[in-house]
Amino acid sequence: MRHLISITDLTKSEIDELIELGLKIIENPKDYSEVCRGKKLATLFFEPSTRTRLSFEAAMLELGGQVLGFSSADTSSAAKGESVTDTVRTVACYADIIAMRHNKEGAPLAAAMKSTVPIINAGDGGHQHPTQTLTDLITIKREKGYIGDITVGFCGDLQFGRTVHSLIKALLMYSGIKFVLISPNELRVPGYIREALRHHNAEFVEIERLEEVIDELDVLYMTRVQRERFFNEADYVRLKDSYILTLDKLKTAKQELSILHPLPRVNEIAVEVDDDPRACYFKQVLNGKYIRMALIMKLLELV
Ligand code: NCD
Repeated sequence: MRHLISITDLTKSEIDELIELGLKIIENPKDYSEVCRGKKLATLFFEPSTRTRLSFEAAMLELGGQVLGFSSADTSSAAKGESVTDTVRTVACYADIIAMRHNKEGAPLAAAMKSTVPIINAGDGGHQHPTQTLTDLITIKREKGYIGDITVGFCGDLQFGRTVHSLIKALLMYSGIKFVLISPNELRVPGYIREALRHHNAEFVEIERLEEVIDELDVLYMTRVQRERFFNEADYVRLKDSYILTLDKLKTAKQELSILHPLPRVNEIAVEVDDDPRACYFKQVLNGKYIRMALIMKLLELV
């Protein structure tokens, strides 16, 4: 039995196979509409979510399966003090696969150690978010035709942004990626991510001003400043509008730039950018459903 806790639980060839399967599903969704008949997915969301939870649920429904679960900790027995592992042992009696989001880093790993069904980490605190990474990778593949030989800018809250951490780890498996890490000094990537970049001899720079590098980028990955992870509100208020992408700032960017964002957006991308052909974040939302269909099939050993 396989779980997906960190993106590095998958090899590069497994990621590529998932992307290929996702692309096939996009081409012929009807061919997959019965694959999970009789199977159930549980979504255990101890933290807020729109896209991740609903795309998992839509994915399972489109595979012909069924879904159950909860969308906030206070409607589950967590509110009575039940441990994550007891919750998961319980839900594993009712479902064939579990997607779980939790505010504590490592909670899905702890759950996986006690679970009799596959656990998918749908985001653990400020740590990792591997299924968003699969979404980001299939989007890059669709937009660029190929994952590699590109300059990727990550902009915003690189310290707490779990999607950034997982995506950097994944892109380190591909060749020719140049990383441009754009953040306020206080929100730079955590040490273990910088170590991973160094360990792989990756080409990377850490800078504060987006304007200085925007013309070099092939992919710009914008992120939300993660208010819920800050220790005090004053720091959040000071940093929240560090970057606001506007059409004016995009004037010097490449015509083939792909702008990604895991969403939700707060202020960091002006709404006027949405109609620019370089904006890919709503395409990402749709890609997320298809790649999760592929992942559910893999973890249920249906491919
Ligand atoms: C991200 C998350 O939850 O980490 N959202 C998502 O899953 N698409 C990004 C965020 O909340 O800023």
